[in-house]
Amino acid sequence: REGMTMGPLVAAIDQGTSSTRFLVFNAKTAELLSHHQVEIRQSFPKEGWVEQDPKEILQSVYDCMERTCEKLGQLHIDVSHIKAVGVTNQRETTLVWDKETGEPLYNAIVWLDLRTQSTVERLINKTPGKSKNHLKHKTGLPISTYFSAVKLRWLMDNVEEVAEAVLTHRAMFGTVDSWLIWCLTGGKSGGVHVTDVTNASRTMLFNIHTLDWDPELCRYFGVPMEILPKVKSSSEIYGSMCLGDQSAALVGQMCFQDGQAKNTYGTGCFLLRNTGVEPVMSDHGLLTTIAYKLGKDAPAYYALEGSVAIAGAVVRWLKDNMGIIRSSSEIEKLAGEVGSSYGCYFVPAFSGLYAPYWEPSARGIICGLTQFTNRSHLAFAALEAVCFQTREILDAMNQDYGVPLSQLQVDGGMTSNRLLMQLQADILCVPVVKPSMPETTALGAAMAAGAAEGVGVWSLAPGDLAAVPTERYQPQINTEESEFRYARWKKAVQKAMNWET
Ligand code: G3P
Repeated sequence: REGMTMGPLVAAIDQGTSSTRFLVFNAKTAELLSHHQVEIRQSFPKEGWVEQDPKEILQSVYDCMERTCEKLGQLHIDVSHIKAVGVTNQRETTLVWDKETGEPLYNAIVWLDLRTQSTVERLINKTPGKSKNHLKHKTGLPISTYFSAVKLRWLMDNVEEVAEAVLTHRAMFGTVDSWLIWCLTGGKSGGVHVTDVTNASRTMLFNIHTLDWDPELCRYFGVPMEILPKVKSSSEIYGSMCLGDQSAALVGQMCFQDGQAKNTYGTGCFLLRNTGVEPVMSDHGLLTTIAYKLGKDAPAYYALEGSVAIAGAVVRWLKDNMGIIRSSSEIEKLAGEVGSSYGCYFVPAFSGLYAPYWEPSARGIICGLTQFTNRSHLAFAALEAVCFQTREILDAMNQDYGVPLSQLQVDGGMTSNRLLMQLQADILCVPVVKPSMPETTALGAAMAAGAAEGVGVWSLAPGDLAAVPTERYQPQINTEESEFRYARWKKAVQKAMNWET
């Protein structure tokens, strides 16, 4: 199509738990030119189970690409200027498909899924000292329902088609990035079966020191290595380039220096702090994970990560399950009507509790209710829960890293909620800083794609974007009040952990 001269463009597929997006950036200015977003369904076939349809995920990518290109056309921008497409994705979500038919052999088991809780408990009980950290020295992770290995094991044990495909050497395992890249590069007619170090580091089969699949871990989980994708760096032509979504956000927020951190509020919320080329092992319930490896021969950078399972998902729950709001954005107004939860605390431990507790048997709890409590208080308590969970992560991070964060860089869908951002600053007692372009996850994937050897159209240095204006939220309540509320929250967490006893 005839179009205005734009210079090179770089695009990103951002496949998250709640939605898929396709975004196109100007590679010279990082300006977001066009995008499209489609919501993704989740199914809950049994209590604690969370699945998604792999074909719906793929179709959503096609739909977003098509609509974005139409929008570019309306802007008279020629789509042939798109020089590379990066992929960034929800991590850990586990798929197995048949490489001969191209068909998925079961739904995708979403990272939040709890069906492997008893397997996890059994594995932990078998370790010396019954330690959930038994594999941490290699993986940086505690044994948990969160990561892919146990989900893959469940598929091999419970889905006949998967077991059969493994036996007949037709099975391919992948996280969402691998599934999409395989399909987009030709599928059964020669698609490439790859993943990147950031996604691989969330499977529990990957050694974060050697940067390769670990034969001992694979034996431990009974996973044949031939079904695993080839592990690449995060910025390489393999078809396309990819990064797990939280790593992409770290790149998109320009956190390239040791000690820099960001928190992304999506379905869950994930605070990652760059620790440089050396992994830092946590003593306070955080994960050690790969931050990025921007090129085949570039070093791997590591991050400490605090993963919170439920952030935006609590708002979706209030909407879809409780009918308290009609759209997610309504929560800000509803909660804003009261300005306090009036002693109501909501611990949304729907998938157990992740960092820093790693307690799969925890369950959600709402406490402190009185006759006075109404839906606004509940909405407020839900927003506060996101902030308290982040505070717990930040405290753990400060202890593990040794140097306290003086401000928190934030991004993700929920950051458009100003009330939430102010609450976050109040509860953390440090300023919260939001970039003017909040699509940092997609930006990070686009940067990795545009900078890859053989593409080379991304020439911006981190400093070029640091000057972009930001929203800044200063703490507005005193530390005493903040500590009082936080102490109450901690009590509520204890109840969520021990609700059965
Ligand atoms: O680890 C799960 C994470 O990658 C999901 O991110 O953006 O879908 O909440 P999001």
